[in-house]
Amino acid sequence: MTDSPYLPVTAAPHAAHGVFISFEGGDGCGKTTQSRLLGQWLGDVLDREVVLTREPGGTSLGKKIRPLILHDEDMGPRAEALLYAADRSHHVQSLVRPALARGAIVVTDRYLDSSLAYQSGGRELTADDIRGLSLWATQGLMPVVTVLLDISPAAGAARFTDAPDRLESAGDEFHERTRQAYLDMAAAEPERFVTVDAHGSIEEIAALVRAGVARRLAAIFPELAERLASRLGGETAPLNS
Ligand code: TYD
Repeated sequence: MTDSPYLPVTAAPHAAHGVFISFEGGDGCGKTTQSRLLGQWLGDVLDREVVLTREPGGTSLGKKIRPLILHDEDMGPRAEALLYAADRSHHVQSLVRPALARGAIVVTDRYLDSSLAYQSGGRELTADDIRGLSLWATQGLMPVVTVLLDISPAAGAARFTDAPDRLESAGDEFHERTRQAYLDMAAAEPERFVTVDAHGSIEEIAALVRAGVARRLAAIFPELAERLASRLGGETAPLNS
C-alpha cells in the first residue's frame, strides 16, 4: 500500500454496456485533439456510436457554468470545487449515463481526476474531500480507462493558442504540482491509467494512445481483443503481452 493521497477510486461495477474513457493532463497537453482521434478510431474499429464530450461544459447547463469558473471573478476553493462537481453531476446524469446505456463509447476530455489534480493538494481541500464530492455527484461512475497525457508545464504553455484563462495563468509552481498529482494518481491506479508522453507529434502520441487503450480494453472485454489487435497493425506488441 502506498502512502499516496491518491488512493484507487473504487468504481461501482460498470453501470452499463458502454465504454467510458477519460482524457486527463495539464493545460496544452493535446487532450482535445487526442480524445477526438481515439474516439474516431474506436468507433470505426468497434463499429459503435461514439460520444465525444468535455468537462467543464459538456451540456447546456455546463456551458453556463464553464465561463463562471474559468473567467469570472476569483472565488474560494470550495465554491470552485462545487461548481466543477455540479457540472460533472449534470454531465453524467444527462449525457454520459444515457449514452453508456445505449452502448456507446463515451470519451470525455477531463473528468474526476481533473478535480483531484487541480482542486486538491492544498491544506484546505484534501484529495479525500474532492474524491468524495465527485463520487457523490456522479453516483460513483468511473471510467474504465483514463489516458494521462503527460507534458511539462513549459511545453504545454508553448502550445496555447488563445489568451490563458484563470487556471492557465496560475503559475509554474501550480502547474508542476498538478503534473505531479496526475503522475501520483496514475502510479496509484495502474490498472485504470494509460500514461503517455505527450511531447511528441500528434501522430506519435495518437499511436501510443491507441496501443495503450486497446491493451486495456482487451483485458476488460476479451471479446474485443481480436478486433482491436487486428487494427493496431505493427504498432505494438501483442495485446496480451
Ligand atoms: P479545459 O477546457 O479542458 O482546458 P484545456 O483542455 O485547454 O487544458 O479545462 C479548463 C480548465 O479547467 C483547466 O485549466 C483545468 C480546469 N479544471 C479544474 O480545475 N477542475 C476540474 O474538475 C475540471 C474538469 C477542469
